[in-house]
Amino acid sequence: MKAGASQYFSMEWPLVRSLLWVLVLVAHIHDLRACIEEERMGLLELKAYLKSNTNYTEPLLPSWVYDLKSECCNWERVKCNNTTGYVIKLCLSNINHETHVYADNENWFLNESLLQPFKELRILDLSRNGIRGWQGNKGM
Ligand SMILES: *[C@@H]1O[C@H](CO)[C@@H](O)[C@H](O)[C@H]1NC(C)=O
Ligand SMILES: *[C@@H]1O[C@H](CO)[C@@H](O)[C@H](O)[C@H]1NC(C)=O
Ligand SMILES: *[C@@H]1O[C@H](CO)[C@@H](O)[C@H](O)[C@H]1NC(C)=O
Ligand SMILES: *[C@@H]1O[C@H](CO)[C@@H](O)[C@H](O)[C@H]1NC(C)=O
Repeated sequence: MKAGASQYFSMEWPLVRSLLWVLVLVAHIHDLRACIEEERMGLLELKAYLKSNTNYTEPLLPSWVYDLKSECCNWERVKCNNTTGYVIKLCLSNINHETHVYADNENWFLNESLLQPFKELRILDLSRNGIRGWQGNKGM
């Protein structure tokens, strides 16, 4: 009985070890894809700005939360490059599905410095939010 148990254990051990390696590997890959801290803060700043310039009745971008454990690449309307973890796409069109209620002022401007944290941003859709243009030195 005793011999059988130890044999069983020695057979299992390599399996346990390789499972541990798989876990380490998965954790490493996950780390690589995790969102960039600077961009996470940038998204939260963007949210705060959008919130302060609109008077939507529904919660704005509820998955964008102040929580260090929250993976910002999984937030709604955010798409990251899955190898680098950089935000590559922000689909903020009609952010709150309330097309008729735009903002306090329907023609408001977005401060372009809000987009500076996003080094790899390729696609930005801000349509149907009543935003008229950019506020900043580039004057886009
Ligand atoms: C992700 O980033 C890598 C390295 O910069 C690049 O080669 C790849 O094309 C990117 N993928 C997407 C889907 O943008
Ligand atoms: C990474 O993204 C590309 C393009 O969006 C997708 O085709 C690919 O399956 C993804 N890879 C992983 C490992 O998720
Ligand atoms: C938003 O603000 C505008 C102008 O202040 C006002 O006319 C409108 O009723 C407000 N909408 C909501 C949903 O509070
Ligand atoms: C845009 O934001 C930056 C940083 O918060 C600030 O320094 C700048 O004055 C703002 N620009 C405008 C035009 O409000």
